[in-house]
Amino acid sequence: MYELHFAVPMAGAVLCTFNTRHDAAMISVLLSHSGAKVFFVESRLLDVGRAALRCLADATSAHSLPVLLTISDDGADSGYSGCVDYEDLVKDAPSQFDIRWPVDELDPITLNYTSGTTSQPKGVVFSHRGAYLNTIATVLAYDITTMLTYLWTVPMFHCNGWNLPWGVAMQGGTNICLRHFTAKVIFDSIARYGVTHMGGAPSVLNMIANAPAADRKVLPGPVRVMTGGAPPSPRVLLAVEELGFVASHMYGLTETLGPATVCTWMPEWDELPPEERAWLKSRQGFHHIAMQDVAVKNTSTMESVPYDGQTVGEVIFRSNTVMSGYYKDIGATKESMAGGWLHTGDLADRAKDIIISGGENISSIELESVIFSHPAVLEAAVVARPDEYWGETPCAFVKLKDGANATEAEIISFCR
Ligand SMILES: *[C@@H]1O[C@H](CO)[C@@H](O)[C@H](O)[C@H]1NC(C)=O
Ligand SMILES: *[C@@H]1O[C@H](CO)[C@@H](O)[C@H](O)[C@H]1NC(C)=O
Ligand SMILES: *[C@@H]1O[C@H](CO)[C@@H](O)[C@H](O)[C@H]1NC(C)=O
Ligand SMILES: *[C@@H]1O[C@H](CO)[C@@H](O)[C@H](O)[C@H]1NC(C)=O
Repeated sequence: MYELHFAVPMAGAVLCTFNTRHDAAMISVLLSHSGAKVFFVESRLLDVGRAALRCLADATSAHSLPVLLTISDDGADSGYSGCVDYEDLVKDAPSQFDIRWPVDELDPITLNYTSGTTSQPKGVVFSHRGAYLNTIATVLAYDITTMLTYLWTVPMFHCNGWNLPWGVAMQGGTNICLRHFTAKVIFDSIARYGVTHMGGAPSVLNMIANAPAADRKVLPGPVRVMTGGAPPSPRVLLAVEELGFVASHMYGLTETLGPATVCTWMPEWDELPPEERAWLKSRQGFHHIAMQDVAVKNTSTMESVPYDGQTVGEVIFRSNTVMSGYYKDIGATKESMAGGWLHTGDLADRAKDIIISGGENISSIELESVIFSHPAVLEAAVVARPDEYWGETPCAFVKLKDGANATEAEIISFCR
């Protein structure tokens, strides 16, 4: 997949990566909507890939099926015959190849489908220009020095790995790719390869912070870890920093090709107590250097809301680093780009995550961070539960750490 991030655009084609967890039905829908002509399948996923092609053949005329190519990077025999293998294709290719440069910098480079189980899948189209700018901005925002060693804990299908297939190459880095990971695999890889940078959702940080002592290793040097995708809890940030990781916190979405804003660290914050530093780091943030504009507006009036930490508004962006649009979906494109701004649907105090109980607003994020600060708690998720009297009440799902013990009543009284 790393090589294809270069090879596909250089062949004048568009790269559309799939989540390795998708099932055959979902993949066939995406193959059909994207009109893919070539379908690369890693040999361990060949059963799903073949099943997807069968679904597609049932739904469409057979002549429009994409060509199947298999990739077996560890030499594993797929057990299937009749498929062209990627390595053979590369071996037999002429060594002289004329790159098919984009005719226009706004030509598409990638297509990334966002979830389509309940609605039509939406294919986010990125231009060469957008990907180029966002790659440079990500490298800068994340302090990616030259000759880094990057550990791939963020999947490359996830928003093109936050642009880092291109970003690591740009800085002459080394890629450490993992098929599956655990905290132990992360620590072992860091120690073995001298990893300097990695990324991960807050759940990955949580995994690191809660690794049993036997799985941990002393870091060979500071490891910069970029997190995003959900607000990280201050407690988890604090815990990973105590282990020697340097966390930076980004915010973005597929429609901004990943990173869009970053919690820029202020030198004067260095003097603050660790808890306060972690709390500051859990917030956002300025737009990165390639993002033209970010604003928080009341989108019915398009007026900016006051910076008072109280008034709720929607986060909106405009930039060359915003998607070109949703593939074959003018309606959804127009709606999300109304007024020339990309509407994220995220409310700046995360009010979307607000539970309204008896007319009072309760922040699910705030509740989660209180529950999180209980020493026995590994993970917590708070959602709204319908209630006849209150309208809604908060309902928490809590997972305890291995070997830890706390009853429901204890956690509730701790929160009180
Ligand atoms: C597209 O990227 C998003 C993250 O931005 C990821 O969750 C999703 O799985 C990707 N889509 C596919 C079809 O892999
Ligand atoms: C947005 O502005 C409209 C019109 O002034 C107002 O009625 C509405 O309450 C505002 N919305 C928010 C979330 O403040
Ligand atoms: C609760 O939040 C909503 C926005 O979701 C806002 O319109 C309302 O004024 C808030 N209510 C209170 C009591 O703060
Ligand atoms: C956890 O606490 C419950 C209730 O106090 C008790 O019955 C149980 O044995 C405890 N389990 C462990 C592993 O300590």
